[in-house]
Amino acid sequence: MICVQAVMYDFDTIIPRRGTGNIKYDRRPDLDPFWVADMDFLTAPEITQAIIKRAEHGVFGYAQAHQGLIDVTRDYLAKRHQVEVDADAIVWLGGLVPALSLAVKAFCRPGEAVMTCTPSYPPFLNVHHDGASIELISIPHGKINGQWTFDFAAMEAAVTPQTRLFLLSNPQNPLGRVFTRTELIELAGFCERHDLVMISDEIHCDIIFNETATPHVCGHALPANFHDRIITLLSPSKTYNIAGIGIAYAVITNDSLKRRFVAARGHTQSEINTFGYYACEAAYRSGEPWRQEMLAYLAENQAVMHQFLAAHAPRLNVNHNQATYLTWIDCRAYDWENPAQHFEKEARIFVSDGAFFGSKGHIRFNFACPRAVMLAGLQKLVSVLPQ
Ligand SMILES: Cc1ncc(COP(=O)(O)O)c(C=O)c1O
Repeated sequence: MICVQAVMYDFDTIIPRRGTGNIKYDRRPDLDPFWVADMDFLTAPEITQAIIKRAEHGVFGYAQAHQGLIDVTRDYLAKRHQVEVDADAIVWLGGLVPALSLAVKAFCRPGEAVMTCTPSYPPFLNVHHDGASIELISIPHGKINGQWTFDFAAMEAAVTPQTRLFLLSNPQNPLGRVFTRTELIELAGFCERHDLVMISDEIHCDIIFNETATPHVCGHALPANFHDRIITLLSPSKTYNIAGIGIAYAVITNDSLKRRFVAARGHTQSEINTFGYYACEAAYRSGEPWRQEMLAYLAENQAVMHQFLAAHAPRLNVNHNQATYLTWIDCRAYDWENPAQHFEKEARIFVSDGAFFGSKGHIRFNFACPRAVMLAGLQKLVSVLPQ
């Protein structure tokens, strides 16, 4: 008997987003957007319902994490990521990027340095400016057997006694890599040897296409001897397409690390939006069926995109993602100074410019949209490739 999984959610319908006050469509209304990391899909209905229910209460005073959220988040961490933590190890935040900045302020003094690998989500290359006179050491990711990984030799050569922090993106944006336990233990060992705090940004950890073949390993699921130097940053925002709601959290099990991180907030962070807390609870409590279908849809989008580009743009070197809906495309076979600008001017599509990620000659293409929209964008892209 063939068992066909029922499809419950619709990712094909095109939902008009222009004029709804969103960055992706409204920043450049003249272009078709395949840039910033959000999806064109409705979120899980349970999340929308939770927000409506909270809105209907009608009183919106200062919020704090309620017990149901704390319980479901601890449960999520334990069951999905094998991370058992007390409630007080969770520091609630309005976003992950502010957490990167807080880490710089908490752990770096003038003259000290932050290390990361490129290509990298652009704030990784800029948050050091939030501290006074902090240096950035950025090392290109290397490839071994066709697989993006860390270039530990180059990292060893570049690290200085003044380096305090390592910023990790896992799964990696924009390379779509899910680092293995072995790679992460080697990285944590590097951080230990050089006494670095390891900031593990795991915002994409629930957007992995084959969780059996490439399971996510949380910073706090590494051996316990590393936990005192790790801050794991998480959020349901990318997975459930609720980035505009603003909810994230840090897991910090070492008291002194946590005190320094929290102290760095000072009075700079606003209270967290009450809808964020309820959206997060609903995502973790009820979002799994939606997440599974969303992943299947994205995996098919990736396959279709690869097939299309292999047929129509064989000179573009298109990365195969294990995770995330953001594809890294090497355009250096063409002699454009700036490929993103070329596609903007000639094809009227908005893709991310690799230069902001520390790698000129590349673009990042967001395929989290209805398949017809993706294919229309790719058609425009290939229509302006020189013959
Ligand atoms: C690696 C990474 N970290 C953080 C963010 C954004 O985090 P937030 O919106 O919570 O500040 C993104 C968004 O794409 C990302 O890719």
